[in-house]
Amino acid sequence: MNVLVVFDHPRRKSLSGAVLDQFVQGLHEAGHVPEIADLHAETFNPRMPTEDEPDLVGSANTFTEAVLREQARVERNDAIAFIFPVWWWSIPATTKGWIDRVWNEDWAYGAKKLHLERALMIGLAATGTASFKKRGYTSAMETQLVVGIMNFCGIENARLELLHDTLESDDIRRALLEEAKILGRTYAD
Ligand SMILES: Cc1cc2nc3c(=O)[nH]c(=O)nc-3n(C[C@H](O)[C@H](O)[C@H](O)COP(=O)(O)O)c2cc1C
Repeated sequence: MNVLVVFDHPRRKSLSGAVLDQFVQGLHEAGHVPEIADLHAETFNPRMPTEDEPDLVGSANTFTEAVLREQARVERNDAIAFIFPVWWWSIPATTKGWIDRVWNEDWAYGAKKLHLERALMIGLAATGTASFKKRGYTSAMETQLVVGIMNFCGIENARLELLHDTLESDDIRRALLEEAKILGRTYAD
């Protein structure tokens, strides 16, 4: 399976970057072909220009070259994954802007939906599972990201995986990296 892996972190040499490496390694081991979209390294501009703003009351949608390039990248893959640090109980602004601009009306929702077979969203969080559960952050993120974006755009097979306690200890970080590789290996299971 060809898998577009959308990576969002200002530093490639971060724990998130190491998770990306392990996940991609796992994908390779399972015979998949990953393509990495490193939004920061590629200087993707998450701000919506008027040219890409959907015409929600009409059908006069036009897209900029930057968006057409990203849409082509999505179209040449069978499935997608996102790797990002959890910032304010959500995806960072660059991933949000990428979705806002690229997953546009009548291309990702509306008259036409996405053809992608599955989506896996991997978020790295400093806070532990108990705190997430206590305040309902896990289900809030699932509702927003999995139901509100992935399912809404036609990807039925979508899920969120949170890697917790990222700032706790080297032992925990090693375990999270192992988990990331397994997520790659079992991506299509
Ligand atoms: C702007 C910002 C917002 C953050 N918000 C959250 C949050 O809502 N929940 C959480 O558990 N951690 C939060 N964190 C901590 C990050 O998740 C943590 O720094 C990250 O998992 C560490 O991985 P990294 O070294 O790859 O950045 C936040 C960090 C930043 C910089």
